[in-house]
Amino acid sequence: MTFVVTDNCIKCKYTDCVEVCPVDCFYEGPNFLVIHPDECIDCALCEPECPAVAIFSEDEVPAGMEQFIQLNVELAEVWPNITERKDPMPDAAEWDGKPNKIEQLER
Ligand code: SF4
Ligand code: F3S
Repeated sequence: MTFVVTDNCIKCKYTDCVEVCPVDCFYEGPNFLVIHPDECIDCALCEPECPAVAIFSEDEVPAGMEQFIQLNVELAEVWPNITERKDPMPDAAEWDGKPNKIEQLER
């Protein structure tokens, strides 16, 4: 089991999640974070920390967001590790809650 970062992280990237992860299993792309499924210990600490409510347990990923499970697997292999909180994206407040941000995903 793992936790998964989903659509609403894109273009927000608040990074509060990184601060609480005991095993540093977040990986950072240009406008999105992912969780490495083999490193996540399923502690659930990050889920309530995300202001964008973008993190879900793998078995509770909302309908229509299933593709993010595979996306976390794939991108955690190629993006660098992030272990410290940083400023959110400049237009985070504006993008928070917008639907289908997957179209904005930069790799
Ligand atoms: Fe890290 Fe725990 Fe979140 Fe997994 S569930 S990403 S181990 S904080
Ligand atoms: Fe993204 Fe939420 Fe973390 S917006 S960077 S999953 S705190």
